[in-house]
Amino acid sequence: MPLQVRPLLNRFFALTLLISGFCLCTASAQSGKTQPWSNSSLSPDERASMVVKAMTLDEKISFLHGTGMMGLSPMSPLAVNSNGGAGYVPGIPRLGVPAIQMSDAAYGVRNSGENGRYSTALPADVAGAASWDLDAGYEYGALIGRELRAQGYNMTLGGGVNLTREPRNGRTFEYLGEDPILAGKMVGSVMKGLQAQHVLGDIKHYALNDQESGRNAVNITIDKRAARESDLLAFEIGLQETDIAAVMCSYNRLDGDYACENKYLLTDVLKNAWNFKGFVLSDWGGAHSVEKASAAGMDHEQPGWIFYGDDYKKAVESGKIPTTELDDHVHRILRAMFATGVIDDPPQKSVVDVVGGFEVAQKLAEQSTVLLKNDHGQLPLDVAKIHSIAVIGPHADVGMISGGGSAQVDPPGGNAIMPPGKGQTRWLEKIWFPTSPLKAIRAKASGASVQFDSGADPATAAALAKSADVAIVFAYQWESEGMDLESLSLPEHQDELIAKVAAANPHTVVVIESGGPVTMPWVDQVSGVLEAWYAGSRGADAVANLIFGEVNPSAKLPITFPRSEADLPHPKVVMPPKAAIDADREGWKRIAAGLPAFPVTYNEGVKVGYKWYDAENKPVLFPFGYGLSYTTYSYSNLKVTPGKNPRVTFTVTNTGNRAGAEVAEVYASLPAAASEPPKRLVGWSKVKLNAGESKDVAIEVDAKYLSIFNVEKNGWQLLPGDYGFMVGGSSQSLPLKESIGLK
Ligand code: BGC
Repeated sequence: MPLQVRPLLNRFFALTLLISGFCLCTASAQSGKTQPWSNSSLSPDERASMVVKAMTLDEKISFLHGTGMMGLSPMSPLAVNSNGGAGYVPGIPRLGVPAIQMSDAAYGVRNSGENGRYSTALPADVAGAASWDLDAGYEYGALIGRELRAQGYNMTLGGGVNLTREPRNGRTFEYLGEDPILAGKMVGSVMKGLQAQHVLGDIKHYALNDQESGRNAVNITIDKRAARESDLLAFEIGLQETDIAAVMCSYNRLDGDYACENKYLLTDVLKNAWNFKGFVLSDWGGAHSVEKASAAGMDHEQPGWIFYGDDYKKAVESGKIPTTELDDHVHRILRAMFATGVIDDPPQKSVVDVVGGFEVAQKLAEQSTVLLKNDHGQLPLDVAKIHSIAVIGPHADVGMISGGGSAQVDPPGGNAIMPPGKGQTRWLEKIWFPTSPLKAIRAKASGASVQFDSGADPATAAALAKSADVAIVFAYQWESEGMDLESLSLPEHQDELIAKVAAANPHTVVVIESGGPVTMPWVDQVSGVLEAWYAGSRGADAVANLIFGEVNPSAKLPITFPRSEADLPHPKVVMPPKAAIDADREGWKRIAAGLPAFPVTYNEGVKVGYKWYDAENKPVLFPFGYGLSYTTYSYSNLKVTPGKNPRVTFTVTNTGNRAGAEVAEVYASLPAAASEPPKRLVGWSKVKLNAGESKDVAIEVDAKYLSIFNVEKNGWQLLPGDYGFMVGGSSQSLPLKESIGLK
C-alpha cells in the first residue's frame, strides 16, 4: 500500500492549518449553547441517543467516515481542519459535537516531528508485555494519552494485540506477544491508562492479521474453536478489562470474507457474544462494501468515504440500509465519545512534558529489558574492577533503533544516524533514536577506557574486543509494518561479528535490539545476553543501568525464542501470488474492489508460541516467560483451592543478596478430554522482594482461562476432570505442581 505519501500529506495539513487557523474549541464553545446532552449525569447511551435524534441524515453520514488521505482515498476539502494525524472526522458545531482527531500512537504519538511537535518514544509495545506489569501498562497508556492531548488529539490508533503466531510478522514489536491472557490483560491496562486521560482508545487489528505479506489479499482459515481460544481471546480479555472505545477491523479475509465485512467477527462475536458497546472502524483502506459491511457491523470507514459516503446515503434513502442500522453506527461513536470524556473534556494543546516522558520511558525500558544469559555472574559489571570496555555494533555510538511503519515515532532532530536536519523519518527506512549506548556506558564507567567499533569489519572489532576487559556488542534486527522478516537471523553479518568478538574475548555481552525473537548461533560462546527490544527515547540509559547493576533485571519473555526457523509451525511465511501483488500496486481503488485472495491456513490452531513447542516436543532457545535476575528466587507452599474461580496460593522467596522483582507464573493443564496443548498460562504476579524476603502470593484463576470454547454450544465450557496447576519462574521452570478435580 503506497503509504509513502503520508509525509507529503502531513506537510499539506501543516500548511493548511496555518492558513485556516486551527480551532480546538470545546463542544459548548462550538455550539455556543448548552445542549440537553451536555448533562454529564446522564449515561453515555442516553446522551448519545439524544444527539442521534437531533442529527440530520447528512450529519450522520459525515460521522461514518474520515476526510481522506492522499494515496489511500479521495480527499475532502474539510481535511484542512485535521490536526495532521492519520484520521479526521469533522465535528458538528451546531450540536456541540467536537471533531475526532485520530493519531497513530503505538509506542508514542506518531508524526509529531512532521507537525512541528515532540513526542516521547516508549519502549516498543512488546517490551511493555515483557514487563508483565499491569501498572506499567497503565503508565504506558497514560503517557501516550497525555501526549496525544497535548498535541490536540482525542483518539489513539494504538492498541495492537494480534498474537505472535508468526514471529517473522513485521509488526511483532507493535503487539504484546504470543499468549492471549498476557496480551489481553496488558492491552486492557494500556487502554485504561490512556482512556483515563479522556482520549478514545482503540484495539487492533481485528482479527488474525498475523502476517504483513499480502495483508490486503490473504484469506485466513482457522478452526473456530482455535480462533476463539487464541487470537480472539486476546481481544475478548482486553475488552473485558475496560470499556474500550473502538476496535479496528483488519485488512485480511477470514473464511472468505474481509474482516471489515465479516459478520462472524464483527456482529456474532464482537457485538453479540462480547457485548461490545464501542465502534468498529476500518483499517486504512480496509473497507470493501456498503451494505455488506454495514450489516456485518463495520461502523466507520477510514481514511475516506469510498463506501460510507454518498453511496451509503443512497442505500439509506432507498431503504437498502435501515435507518436503525445507520443510527446504531452513529450512536456507538457518540456513546464512546461521551463515555471517554472527549466531549466533556476536550484536549487543549500544550507543551509535551519532555523530561517527564524521558523518566517514564527509561523506567519502562528498565522494567522490560530481559536478561537472557549471565554466565559466571558476568553482569552486573563492577566499575571498580573494569579498566577497559569495547562497545561494538552498528550505530551504537549514536543511537538505538526503533520500529517502523504507522507506529514510527519521530526522534527529536531526526534519525540519529543522519546529519542534523537531514534525518526526517521516511516509510520503510530504519530510524535510530538519539540515545547513545556508547555515551551511556562512558558515563557509568568514567574511570575506564571505553572504545567504540562499528563492527563493519569483524576483524577490527575482534581486535578491539581482545584488548578490552569486556566487550559489549549492540546487535539489531529492524521490523516495520508493510513487510515481514525474511528470517529470524540478525541481518548484516552480525552473527559473524558476534562470533568473532566472542572468540576474541570470553567476556562478551550481547545486547539485542529487536521487535521479537532472533536466532543466536553464537549463544554458547558469549557470557551475557540482554534483550532490550526497541528501547525508546531513553533506551541507552536504561541498558547502562542494567549492565552496571543500578537496576536489577525483572522482565520475562512474552514470546518464545526458537532455536531455528525450522521449528516454527510454518517454516516460511506464505507469500502472495504475483496477481495479488500486481493488483495491490494498482492503488486504492483496486484494493477497495478486492484483491485476488490467497490462502493461509493456521493448522497449528490454538498452538501458538509455547503451546506449539510444548505440544510438538521441540526444544527452544529461550522459553516463554523466561528471564534472569541478579538475585535468585525459590518457590514453596503451593495450595490450590477449588471453586468457581480456583485460588492458587504459594510463597516466593528472594534467596539472593539483592532486592528484585520476580514474575511468578501460574500455568494449568486441562483434562485429557479437552485435547489441549500441555499447558497454558492462567495467571501471574510480579512480586517485589528484598534480599532474603518471602511473600505469599494468591492468584484467583478466572474459570474462562481453564475452559475450552465449545463451538456447538457457542460458549466457554469448563470440562469436568483433573486440572494440573504449575507454578514457577518460566514456562519451563515450574517447580510447584498440584492437581485438583473440578466439576
Ligand atoms: C495500519 C494501521 C494504522 C493505519 C493508520 C494502517 O496501514 O495498518 O495500524 O493505524 O494505517 O495509519
